[in-house]
Amino acid sequence: MAEKGKQFYEGKAKKLFTVVGSDDLVIQEFKDDATAFNALKKGSWAHKGEVNCAMSSALFKMLEASGIHTHFVEQLSPTDMLVKKLEIVPLEVIVRNIAAGSFCKRYGAEEGKEFKQPTFEFSYKDDALGDPLINDSHALALELATEDEIDHIRHTALKINDILRAFFRKRGILLVDFKLEFGRHKGEILLGDEISPDTCRFWDAETRKKLDKDRFRQDLGGVEEAYAEMLRRVNETV
Ligand code: TMP
Repeated sequence: MAEKGKQFYEGKAKKLFTVVGSDDLVIQEFKDDATAFNALKKGSWAHKGEVNCAMSSALFKMLEASGIHTHFVEQLSPTDMLVKKLEIVPLEVIVRNIAAGSFCKRYGAEEGKEFKQPTFEFSYKDDALGDPLINDSHALALELATEDEIDHIRHTALKINDILRAFFRKRGILLVDFKLEFGRHKGEILLGDEISPDTCRFWDAETRKKLDKDRFRQDLGGVEEAYAEMLRRVNETV
C-alpha cells in the first residue's frame, strides 16, 4: 500500500501529501472543514471528510468505467485517496442543468428553472481575485490552457454531466450543477479534485430538498444528515 509522506499543500477542504518513493502519485486527505463565499464563512461538521472521500471514490470509479480518464487510483482509508499527481489547469469548470447560486444572482433568473440545454462556464481559479468568470479567449491570453485542452475539457465536462445526471436520476436526485477541475499528467488531461456535495448541487427529485453544501452556505440546518443521505443514495444499487 502507498505510504503517506510529507504534507506539501493545505487547501480549504483537503490536504495533499507526497507518496514515499513515488513522483507520480499523491494522497489527498479530505478534511471536515468547509468554507463558503471565498472563505468568508467557515465551518466544520462530523464525517464530512469521510462522506466526500467515499462519494468521490465511488463516482470516479463509475466515471472511469464509462470511459472518463480521472486521477483516481484507490481509496486508502476513510479520508485518504491515492491519486495521480496533476499539474492543475487553473480553471473551475462549471456545468449547470437548473438555475441556482451565482447564475441566479448574476442574471436575475429564478432558482429552479430547468434549462433546455446544460450551460457551461469557466472561472479563473484564483482566490485572491475571487475566482472571476473567464471566457476562452481570456484563458488563452493568460496561457492557462491551450485551445485543444479547452476543447477537450468542455467536451469531457458535458459528457460527465450526461453520465452523472443519469446516475443521479436513477437514485431520485436532480443534479442541479457542479464544478470540476482538470489537470495534466504525463501529457494527458485527467479529471481531478473531488465530486461531492461540496462541489455539486443535489436536490431530491420529489421534494426538491437541498442535499448539498447550500445547507451550510444558507444556514438551512441538517448539513451532516444531508451529506449522509447523499452518500447513501450514491451507494444504492438500482
Ligand atoms: P455557483 O452557483 O456558486 O457559481 O456554484 C456552481 C457550482 O460550483 C455549485 O455546484 C458549487 C460549485 N462550487 C465549487 O465547487 N466551488 C466554489 O468555490 C464555488 C463558488 C462553487
